[in-house]
Amino acid sequence: MDNETVFMDESVFTPSYVPADYIHRDSQVQEIMLSLKPGLRNVSPINTLIYGPPGTGKTTAVKYAFKELSETSKKLVPVYINCEDHSTPYAVFAKIYETVHGISPPSTGKPLEDVKESIFTRLKKDGKSIIVALDELDRLAVERNIDRVLVDLLKAHASYGFDKIGVMGITVKDDIMADLDDKTRSVYNPTRIFFPKYTRSEIKDILANRSKYGLFDGALKDEQLNDIVGKTFKSGDLRTGIDLMRRSALLAERDASREIMQEHIEEAFHALPDLKRKESAESVEPDEKLFLDMVKQKPGESSGNLYKAFREKTGAGVKRFNEIIAKLESLGLIKAEYKQGVRGRSREIRAL
Ligand SMILES: Nc1ncnc2c1ncn2[C@@H]1O[C@H](COP(=O)(O)OP(=O)(O)OP(=O)(O)O)[C@@H](O)[C@H]1O
Ligand SMILES: [Mg+2]
Repeated sequence: MDNETVFMDESVFTPSYVPADYIHRDSQVQEIMLSLKPGLRNVSPINTLIYGPPGTGKTTAVKYAFKELSETSKKLVPVYINCEDHSTPYAVFAKIYETVHGISPPSTGKPLEDVKESIFTRLKKDGKSIIVALDELDRLAVERNIDRVLVDLLKAHASYGFDKIGVMGITVKDDIMADLDDKTRSVYNPTRIFFPKYTRSEIKDILANRSKYGLFDGALKDEQLNDIVGKTFKSGDLRTGIDLMRRSALLAERDASREIMQEHIEEAFHALPDLKRKESAESVEPDEKLFLDMVKQKPGESSGNLYKAFREKTGAGVKRFNEIIAKLESLGLIKAEYKQGVRGRSREIRAL
């Protein structure tokens, strides 16, 4: 079982893999570096908004730029935060604290004001500037924390006399600025950096590299690679291709084949319910995604309770709430069933 393999290095196809060759994003990386430059001269970096469809290399570009940066200078502190995992003001500042101090804030619960003061005092004392990348920024908008976080960061000079700070927002939502109130918009005022979908030939170059680093020579013929490229191009998301390569390679292994055949690709492609769902997930709005997550956490919860919790988080009314249920149901992502005998029209909601 162990010795029949097409993988030279399977980790090349995992989400945490950092590509050895990050190509076709020179101009975007250059713009990012340019925005950071003032930070190296000890003034505030330029605020940016990095936006574009899913799987177009946004997160990778920022991580790449931060890595370059930390190899050249210690003057500017880069902090990367995924707001999907850190979606409250406290969670965001706790993460910044962790990077600045090298340890988490005490778990006994330090008040937010103290966490902030400690961060900015330390940076001031060390004579450093800071750039905070907020990935999946739209996530903060869903929970209405976005104005608070951005203003607290960018107005630190008013309360703490620290102004060497820049914010880099990252999102798929190109109209995110419309979610901000006027004051936030004017303090943030970012330079926009767009990540378009990759062209067919760019996808081919990138996937060919994965094949080179991840698979044995001859395991993936050009014709099969082209097929994967075509499927990836249609979805617009590079992850489709990376995932498809890995899954078809596993199927080749299952068949003790040293080569990925067309039938492996087809089987991998069709066995991917996620792929279809991912396509529809692209049209799922942030508040709909939040609702979906809530449903997944509490399978079978009543629509009444879900509504209460959802309204608390988003301030949405019942009309919007019902719209979301109808839409997610039509996408086949949830099922809402009327329950007999329970307070009139309450429904039980489950994710599919
Ligand atoms: N230019 C590139 N060269 C090599 N690999 C790339 C390139 N662009 C993206 N990738 C790979 O494609 C995958 C998706 O990229 P990434 O996570 O950066 O996309 P994203 O734009 O942040 O997507 P999302 O909006 O869904 O977060 C990752 O596995 C990444 O390594
Ligand atoms: Mg990303």
